[in-house]
Amino acid sequence: MSSFKSWRRAPENFLSAQTLEDIQRAGFDAQRRELVAKAFLAATGSAAMVLSKSAWGASVAQEVLPAGARTTVGEDDPHILQLPPHTTHLGNPVAMRGYGLPSQYEGATLRRESPGLTKVRESSVAFTPLQNLFGIITPSGLHFERHHSGWSDIDPKHHRLMVHGLVKKPKVYTLDDLMRLPSVSRIHFLECGANTSMEWASPAVPTVQYTHGMLSCSEFTGVPLSVLLDDCGADLSQAQAVLAEGADGSSLTRSIPMDHALDDVLVAWGMNGEMLRPENGYPLRLVVPGVQGVSWVKWLRRLKLGDQKFATRDESIHYIDALPNGLYRQYSGIQECKSVITTPSGGQRLIEHGFYNITGLAWSGRGKIKRVDVSVDGGRNWQTAALQEPVLSKCLTRFNLPWRWNGERCILQSRAIDETGYVQPTYGALRAVRGSQSVYHNNAIQSWRLDATGEVLNVQVD
Ligand code: MTE
Repeated sequence: MSSFKSWRRAPENFLSAQTLEDIQRAGFDAQRRELVAKAFLAATGSAAMVLSKSAWGASVAQEVLPAGARTTVGEDDPHILQLPPHTTHLGNPVAMRGYGLPSQYEGATLRRESPGLTKVRESSVAFTPLQNLFGIITPSGLHFERHHSGWSDIDPKHHRLMVHGLVKKPKVYTLDDLMRLPSVSRIHFLECGANTSMEWASPAVPTVQYTHGMLSCSEFTGVPLSVLLDDCGADLSQAQAVLAEGADGSSLTRSIPMDHALDDVLVAWGMNGEMLRPENGYPLRLVVPGVQGVSWVKWLRRLKLGDQKFATRDESIHYIDALPNGLYRQYSGIQECKSVITTPSGGQRLIEHGFYNITGLAWSGRGKIKRVDVSVDGGRNWQTAALQEPVLSKCLTRFNLPWRWNGERCILQSRAIDETGYVQPTYGALRAVRGSQSVYHNNAIQSWRLDATGEVLNVQVD
């Protein structure tokens, strides 16, 4: 195991000394806790949210992970014996909110920008709060955002999709035309090729939201691209790639190889049962399962078939991998097998010794997750985690491992293996092949150091 490298704190995820003291003082009757811990063992592992003011002035979450139930449950607990006001009168009427919103008490679960990451907010990233989510589906309002030149809410009546190039019948479709075609719904992860990019040289950001939050997973609904290509009479004897273009200021373009285009790619309008959100490509986006996010062209307006890849700006100077020999690798689109522990993770604090559920996410652009191993000693020993159903191809898989923390400093890691047998690499193994000058495609094993104080920090282990 090599030395640990430095880390920085996220202003919104750490507790002040005073808050910690208040938490410790509240309800820490040792005897009672022992009883309660036994009774509630199965329900443990969830994070109690404590709201505070961040450095940016917004109200944000700080997470405290209790070992057993941490509340003052007992005969004198006023929350059991006194009827709360909401049980004594009528509640709010139906349809008070035509479109539902999260509880006011969950206001800290937010997409967040990494301070200073980009010069302007229109060409930036908002990260998904992986540490706050359950299961595998990302709520649409928390889906990460990555725009090259901002987003617009496009009027679908005026939006068109042109299919041309090596086709017998070039066509222009309206959204209505497309929605009349046979559609499918599938659950897939979407990961930006730049996810975890800030960590290539050394740990740079403190929480899983920033290290891994350019990652989301949704059910997408749309027409298979193969159906559209058939409808337009694609010349499959000549066509090698489809160029996809977006209707934003950057006119983002990517080449999709023909074998992929005819396989599982969708022209999608639906996300999690409703229309796409404007930030995520409303009214149309390409869904390219298993492939880096940049190929999932948003606000899709043009598909052109050509006899070779198009080598556009977005695939020649961006999203390419610097190699140790000074050359660059192009078109390395598939997102290799990767995993991360989301709880306990950087910025969280364990306030008691005892039982915790170690949980996280694993995914592979090449198919299903076969196994996830978890280490609590920096990679010396590994235990196999339970995979939570469903385990789907090119989709996030939730894993869990019950664990008892004895209060000692330890290093938590997860290592995923996919159905091809590929094993997620250590930082040492990845850097041996790729060097440390890369930006994209970092799928190394993530390490979280849990200190005796209960604080969890981002560290790297080669
Ligand atoms: N499509 C267009 N037209 N413009 C863009 O800036 N960003 C790409 C891709 N599609 C982008 C785009 C990148 S780099 C990623 S990672 C994904 O969209 C992000 O999708 P999301 O914003 O829905 O998370």
